[in-house]
Amino acid sequence: MSSPLSTDASPGSVAETPLTLSQRLKAETARLHDMLDQLVMSTQPFDNRENYGRFVLTQYLFQRDIESLYDDARLQAMIPDLPSRPRLAAAAMDLQDLAVVVPDDADAPAAARLAMEEGLGWLYVSEGSKLGAAFLFKEAAARLGLSETVGARNLAAPEGGRGAAWKRFVQVLDHNALSADDEDRVVEGARQAFHRFAELLRRSFGLAA
Ligand code: HEM
Repeated sequence: MSSPLSTDASPGSVAETPLTLSQRLKAETARLHDMLDQLVMSTQPFDNRENYGRFVLTQYLFQRDIESLYDDARLQAMIPDLPSRPRLAAAAMDLQDLAVVVPDDADAPAAARLAMEEGLGWLYVSEGSKLGAAFLFKEAAARLGLSETVGARNLAAPEGGRGAAWKRFVQVLDHNALSADDEDRVVEGARQAFHRFAELLRRSFGLAA
């Protein structure tokens, strides 16, 4: 683009282009993502079915945390294809395939009483995780013989492909009518969600906090 607004990107410049919400989310949670990526890999989730089962339990508990967000009227109005996005049922079926029982001591859904703004941040984390899941799905297939119909539904590509679903979600993020303060709350929600996933992963693998 030739506009001085978009070409002058020097730090602190008044003419700097403001980041879109999706750009902010990516930039402001990158460190948390890397931490989580390393934590996941440190648990060696594809070394055997037991480890993989613990990983899927984490996915299940996280999806259960955010289940009620899919019924939120404001999120539904904002995200037309929201009903196609949950993965709780997929994770539950995978747990059955793997004969993993959900422990009783699991606490209440963490995102149940969230406002729409924070909830959108949690959804960003869930939706973005479907991108990295391309790699995880391949590992589950190659090393454990699992598939989108047995044990690895929770990592399978959404209908129409990962890229298209992600692109539509980013469009929603970047064409919202939120105030700057509300966008801050979305980013805060995303941070909470990354921390929560890490907490659930540690719990599923019996790791110290
Ligand atoms: C070993 C584990 C993981 C690996 C290797 C991984 C890898 C990746 C990769 C390669 C991308 C970028 C894909 C692309 O741009 O096409 C990505 C994006 C993302 N991942 Fe992960 N990921 C992992 C785990 C997770 C987990 C557990 C979560 C959340 C629960 C997560 C959340 C996200 C999010 C939100 C994005 C989108 C970033 C953006 O805004 O562009 N990832 N991941």
